Amino acid sequence: VAESCLSIIILGASGDLAKKKTFPALFHLYCQGFLPSHQVKLFGYARSKLIEEDFHRRIGGHLADSGKYPADLVTKFLELSTYISGAYDDDDSFRKLDKIISDYEAGKDEPPRRLFYLALPPSVYPLVAGMIHKNCMNKRGWTRIVIEKPFGKDLKSSEELSDQLGSLFSEEQLYRIDHYLGKEIVQNLLVMRFANRFFVPLWNRDNIANVQIVFRENFGTDGRGGYFDEYGIIRDIIQNHLMQVLCLVAMEKPLSLSPEHVRDEKVKVLQAIQPIQDSEVVIGQYEGYRDDPTVSDESLTPTFASVVLRIHNERWDGVPFILKAGKALDTRKAEIRVQFKDVPGDIFKCKKQGRNEFVMRLQPSEAMYMKLTVKQPGLEMSATQSELDLSYRQRYQDVVIPEAYERLILDTIRGDQQHFVRRDELQLSWEVFTPLLERIEAGKIPVIPYKQGSRGPPEADKLAVEQGYVRTHGY
Ligand code: BG6
Repeated sequence: VAESCLSIIILGASGDLAKKKTFPALFHLYCQGFLPSHQVKLFGYARSKLIEEDFHRRIGGHLADSGKYPADLVTKFLELSTYISGAYDDDDSFRKLDKIISDYEAGKDEPPRRLFYLALPPSVYPLVAGMIHKNCMNKRGWTRIVIEKPFGKDLKSSEELSDQLGSLFSEEQLYRIDHYLGKEIVQNLLVMRFANRFFVPLWNRDNIANVQIVFRENFGTDGRGGYFDEYGIIRDIIQNHLMQVLCLVAMEKPLSLSPEHVRDEKVKVLQAIQPIQDSEVVIGQYEGYRDDPTVSDESLTPTFASVVLRIHNERWDGVPFILKAGKALDTRKAEIRVQFKDVPGDIFKCKKQGRNEFVMRLQPSEAMYMKLTVKQPGLEMSATQSELDLSYRQRYQDVVIPEAYERLILDTIRGDQQHFVRRDELQLSWEVFTPLLERIEAGKIPVIPYKQGSRGPPEADKLAVEQGYVRTHGY
């Protein structure tokens, strides 16, 4: 099938997100042949009055950094990208943009494709989406809009944003990125769960004692204090990234891998989540957080949170899901820990050795391993805990694991919405967290200080133990 020409318009092209994430992802796709030069053009749009050369220097510097691909490809890639300076509230500028895209599309037989990537602060989404809708719609082929979190700050503001965007574009045209859905191990969740007889019969309340989904970073707000202080760790990580992971861990088997079937099942998980209890929440702030000049001196914004969620359905009733995220901790790591119950009638005194656990490590160095009890090799009959370890670096040495953004942008071009957040998922996730956020903001839950480089407040480890988590060696 002849593919038609594709225009990728990056709004906010001179900003940080575009430089660090969007353009590098596009570059990697280009290097792998997914954006053939005869078919694709990139249009950077922003307010800054840059000449094309400056723009190329700005994004090009970052592309060569990875060293993954030969430098001459950077030059070729930059030849595909052009820069347009314009305001976000000015019809004329958007008409000019439309004209430049139309000129590129002119004379092509197949219906052209237009992908608008909003690498912009969410406050201007409605304005810019309105401008695109009014001035830049593709008359012959599809128009798609990619947006990034934060999608609102709570249920009300998120719904307002959804209404505004929904009045301009259909759900099929909107691609809400949650980059955790583009991570290799997250994409493996459905395969692991539903293609392995090992897991299928065990993945339920009869066998699983608790689930932890943990995100840790070993750096603080890192120059993003202004943004972060307004949002906090629950909005920044838990309400979106960790909730998406939770849905994939907990959902029923979808009828198929079609985006709607998968997202329908995720929605059912979200609908079954019970109100969060204050006694099952620990929040903290790292010492020194307020030293950041962009953070208020009295800020009570949590930089750490551990929250127990309960899913009220037949599969999960009684199983705590502990979602934990923190900045300025001891390490950078994201993982899912599924801890199994003790074996009944244990004759090996396994309890001393710890429980079976299945761990999926999202980063760093993707891995999956199972903690299991085996005989300690040697003359004595004693049990010890060991691991069945699938470490991606070792097992898939020749495979380059794609960056999340790379994969997701490719999906937007292909029109596959499976790994994007549907409006109802977003709404339900805000329904879960908004009451808790209100209580935190009203000062009803104490913010516990913790040292930078620590595990976070010790109360969080205590909470996990209270929920039945049995800590074993190595965690
Ligand atoms: C972003 C958050 O969504 O995810 C950041 O806004 C966080 O605060 C980042 O650092 C983490 O992403 P990753 O892919 O490095 O785990």
